[in-house]
Amino acid sequence: MTQRSFASDNNAGVHPEVLRAIKAANDGHVIAYGDDYITSRAVKLFQKHFGSDVAVYFVFGGTGANVLGLKSITHSHQAIICAETAHVNVDECGAPEHYTGCKLIALPTPDGKLRVDQLKPLLHAFGNEHHVQPRVISISQATEMGTVYSKKELKSLSSFAHDNNMLLHVDGARIANAAVSLNASLKDITADVGVDVLSFGGTKNGMMYGEAVVFFDKKLATDFKYIRKQGMHLPSKMRYVSAQFEALLSNNLWKRSAAHANSMAHMLAIELAKIPKIKITQPVESNGVFAVVPPKYIPRLQKKYFFYVWNEEISEVRLMASFDTSEHDIQEFVRLVRKTVK
Ligand SMILES: Cc1ncc(COP(=O)(O)O)c(C=O)c1O
Repeated sequence: MTQRSFASDNNAGVHPEVLRAIKAANDGHVIAYGDDYITSRAVKLFQKHFGSDVAVYFVFGGTGANVLGLKSITHSHQAIICAETAHVNVDECGAPEHYTGCKLIALPTPDGKLRVDQLKPLLHAFGNEHHVQPRVISISQATEMGTVYSKKELKSLSSFAHDNNMLLHVDGARIANAAVSLNASLKDITADVGVDVLSFGGTKNGMMYGEAVVFFDKKLATDFKYIRKQGMHLPSKMRYVSAQFEALLSNNLWKRSAAHANSMAHMLAIELAKIPKIKITQPVESNGVFAVVPPKYIPRLQKKYFFYVWNEEISEVRLMASFDTSEHDIQEFVRLVRKTVK
């Protein structure tokens, strides 16, 4: 078997239960573009997990989910506020700006989380035609730094947004990891705390491909089916995306996989923290570990295990655990780190 690495939860394969669901869906002909029985079942499962009145649409990937979800709730004279580290800001090649026309206002944060106090100064722009009008607060849950917003923090961001005629968008590429971390249901940390639009991640949690855009107020979704098609994210053989979501949202697979990945990240952090020259830089609240490793050791480690340097300036690396990371993987990696980083 090819060695598993800690580079990304995207580097992992497909969970066997998801693969089985794809195979089971591969039976005869069904109507294309989502008008099929597997898609209806998957949508019902979303309604079970998130609330009976959500509107849900499947797309191919996470950038598409973010960009199209944001496009459906903005005009180009408006602004989307996010953390500097947000995927929408640094890892989507400008697609959010390109497709929405909106300005992204990216705010610095030490841990990937936006806070209400940082947002208040932006209110001065309201009503001034010379300034873009703040419309969306976009956060990532879990964040790109592996941290997790508490329910209280989510509630205060949504209240601030709604009090100021704005909306709360969540990039939930790793929302399953966040829910597990908070010991919460998916609904607890979305519908129940005032989230308006969510990109629900499947790929990082064991799917082959596919993400969902979930609208907690159906009125916001009125034009989404056109936006999705124009945005090139309407899968014709939708049943295969739907089958994967059906597997993920059945038998607690979303939870089991995320819980496993989170606990492997914790174990990795505990072991790395014992190595004197390594410093863990962020609280390990989901499936990512951030650590400063002296630069001279990094290429030696990367020869055996590929991973990303997250912040070159401070020699901080990112290590991700996945649904299939094993204790043995961690022991082997830590053994190498101990031998190398002396
Ligand atoms: C926080 C976050 N959002 C969204 C995505 C989705 O990206 P993609 O378009 O590669 O599926 C990723 C993937 O790395 C991510 O880390």
